[in-house]
Amino acid sequence: MHSFGQRANVLLTFAITLLALMCAIASVSDNFNSLSPHAHVQVVNINWFQKKSSGDDEVSLSLNISANLESLFTWNTKQVFVFLAAEYGTPKNALNQISLWDGIIPSREHAKFWIHAYNKYRFIDQGSNLRGKEFNLTLHWHVMPKTGKMFADKIVMSGYRLPQAYR
Ligand SMILES: *[C@@H]1O[C@H](CO)[C@@H](O)[C@H](O)[C@H]1NC(C)=O
Ligand SMILES: *[C@@H]1O[C@H](CO)[C@@H](O)[C@H](O)[C@H]1NC(C)=O
Repeated sequence: MHSFGQRANVLLTFAITLLALMCAIASVSDNFNSLSPHAHVQVVNINWFQKKSSGDDEVSLSLNISANLESLFTWNTKQVFVFLAAEYGTPKNALNQISLWDGIIPSREHAKFWIHAYNKYRFIDQGSNLRGKEFNLTLHWHVMPKTGKMFADKIVMSGYRLPQAYR
């Protein structure tokens, strides 16, 4: 016969094991929550495109940014920081990255959106490299969790090109 103390001990061990298992399942299910965010950006208009007196190129774009980042939100997500960058290569730098727009998504309810906006930050190239330039628009995100490490990833959208002539 087991004493009461032994039985209580077995029960406690079982309860702790079960709790550990539930925690493990919760963290695995969080990791396996399929990360399938989508983004699409349309360059609606080139508002103007010029060479400044400094010799640098500057372009003003009107963009339709649409995204569904709902899958980034789990029980452990505090908020998500996103920024849209134009990325292109020049003879001087293999990668030039210019942030055009950013935002903070506070909750899953706000994670599916589209906005029609001008570039919030100036798209200036240090030099005269933008005519006919092919570029990518990359939506970067940083997930700020309630506990644990922040993580980041991006969606690269390619196939954009600036006009051959200033306007
Ligand atoms: C922006 O894009 C979204 C999704 O592609 C579309 O539903 C919406 O009508 C577009 N808005 C404008 C102003 O073009
Ligand atoms: C755009 O992204 C694609 C895929 O990541 C990459 O191969 C290409 O070099 C990029 N283009 C530019 C202009 O940065």
